[in-house]
Amino acid sequence: ANVGVLISGRGSNMRSLVANATEAYKVVVVASNRPSAEGLVWAREQGIPTFALSPKEVGKQAYEAALDAALREAGAEYLALAGYMRLLSDDFVARWRDRIINIHPSLLPKYKGLDTHARAIAAGDAEAGCSVHIVTEELDGGAVLGQARVPIQSGDTPETLAARVLDEEHRLYPRVLAEWLTR
Ligand code: GRF
Repeated sequence: ANVGVLISGRGSNMRSLVANATEAYKVVVVASNRPSAEGLVWAREQGIPTFALSPKEVGKQAYEAALDAALREAGAEYLALAGYMRLLSDDFVARWRDRIINIHPSLLPKYKGLDTHARAIAAGDAEAGCSVHIVTEELDGGAVLGQARVPIQSGDTPETLAARVLDEEHRLYPRVLAEWLTR
């Protein structure tokens, strides 16, 4: 299947999706709401088509219309959010119903939203992790397709924990995306 990947920054999960693509999927476009996103540079170097537009420039509606058109033009059938930090509108989600997935750095349903690692440490949790889930209108709320767990160690900071979880994200996301598309 042809997949479009949406990023807002570094794009390390996007790189892992590209690097680990199998017969199950191909990344046909990388799109960003931040034209300065570091991941776009790498995608262009790989020869992957990119799309970048700031919603602040044109307004959210025009931004999403242009994004939708660019994704369809590139042949994307499914979307994978990878560090995409904007909320997609209900309309956009409806147009891609059950064809968008996201990776979130917590063991959902725990810690939807931001600052997941700091919250897990503050709660005294023994473990943290990441989840791949279907995107619905509810933030970080759709069905969970796969998770990976890591222990929280004494002395962990949000940064050290984030690095340990990120390693698992890079393994989990390509595997779950491929499984989901061949279900
Ligand atoms: C990842 O931890 C992802 O789960 C979260 O933001 C981070 C993005 O990192 N939503 P990257 O851009 O994939 O490197």
